[in-house]
Amino acid sequence: MKKLLSTILSLGIAASAALAANPAISAVKVSDNLDTIKADSALWSKAKFETVILYPQTSIEFNDKKANALVANAKGKKAQIGALHDGKNIAVMVKWADKTKDVEQCMSSDVYTDGFAVQFAGSTKKAQPLPYIGMGSEGRPVVVHLQKATAKVYEPNGNKDVSTQINRQQTGVFGKELADYDAKVASLAKTDYEKVFVAEGFRSTTEVKDNSVKSNGAMVHGPAGWNGTLVRPLKDAYVNLNGTVPVAIAVWDGSTMGRNGLKNLSSWVAINLEGQKPAAAMVSELTSDTKGDAVKGKEAAMTNGCNGCHQMEAADAKSFMAPSLKNIGGYSTSAYLRESILKPSAVVVPGYNRNAHANTPWYNIEKGKRVSTMTDYSFLDKETVDNIVAYLKTLKAEVE
Ligand code: HEC
Repeated sequence: MKKLLSTILSLGIAASAALAANPAISAVKVSDNLDTIKADSALWSKAKFETVILYPQTSIEFNDKKANALVANAKGKKAQIGALHDGKNIAVMVKWADKTKDVEQCMSSDVYTDGFAVQFAGSTKKAQPLPYIGMGSEGRPVVVHLQKATAKVYEPNGNKDVSTQINRQQTGVFGKELADYDAKVASLAKTDYEKVFVAEGFRSTTEVKDNSVKSNGAMVHGPAGWNGTLVRPLKDAYVNLNGTVPVAIAVWDGSTMGRNGLKNLSSWVAINLEGQKPAAAMVSELTSDTKGDAVKGKEAAMTNGCNGCHQMEAADAKSFMAPSLKNIGGYSTSAYLRESILKPSAVVVPGYNRNAHANTPWYNIEKGKRVSTMTDYSFLDKETVDNIVAYLKTLKAEVE
């Protein structure tokens, strides 16, 4: 019976395990100053692009039924990632397919926008373990550069009500004003919406507004999709990047209501700065498959009741008891998965739709700290944990 179970389980796992871990990316060293590099700069031809898969973030339930339905069927997306550095700055380019160009217009706030983000691990004394991918965790900050596609927007009074400030219908009366206004928009408008956040956990997200991060981003849409670029210093008040730079990439698709948590996300990806010594342990952690046995891991997960609280695979019923794990293998490192099993309270997934699981809270507050309601599995032996981690790594959507 046990043999039969293994055989049945292995059939499902073999197909999804075919996708290996993300490759390391080499940030090519250039002598030109990258401060002013643009998305269409010829320098980018020196970058070596690698394919990284971004998976739908499905941990958390939304308050919005339509959003939940969209995310339920969302697939993994391929992105091409390349990088350059000049010893002072790192430049990252992310290319991804998206046929529809969804751009923020200041007159219609109900339009969802295409966008992308590059997340860096903030500087801490300990390089490992890496921060929780969804906005960092206590003591392990992240710095997130968010870029959204915007139309040319110029608002004289800053209230996003341009339509009431200029009446387009009355060209007869306002013709000259309109022409002046359009000229002003063309000269002053910004097409870049870029924000930088620092976070040490979901609710601690703070926007950096004081110009202390000198970054520069852009998004260009072409027939194949988007091409997003970001340049930032290797070192500033928040990060100290050297050797191997772990980054995580997120993309939002406005045509499927992409916003906030409704996005596709990569796991941490290693970018090695050419000419510097790579962090061998981190590169190996981020680029190799786990050594455990995923088939045995699935059996162990069932024996230990993981699926009593979690939706594990897409076909399983949804559960409000705990985050859905159906894409967890796509955006988590093995180290994070191991820690989740052995020390559930080390990082507590926030679950911002607490109404949905009001009777089954994901954590309780004890002495001011969030304590996970997940069973502590530190009694499991190392081999079983390795096997469960290998199984969890197979949990991810098909790639589009
Ligand atoms: C009693 C219910 C319960 C059981 C049983 C349980 N979990 Fe959890 N698990 C939770 C809750 C609640 C959270 C969210 C709070 C937190 O981060 O600890 C969670 C979080 C996680 C996370 C992090 C998810 C994310 O999105 O980052 C992983 C991974 C995980 N569990 C794996 C497991 C595995 C593997 C097992 C079985 C060995 C298991 N869980 C058994 C309740 C449970």
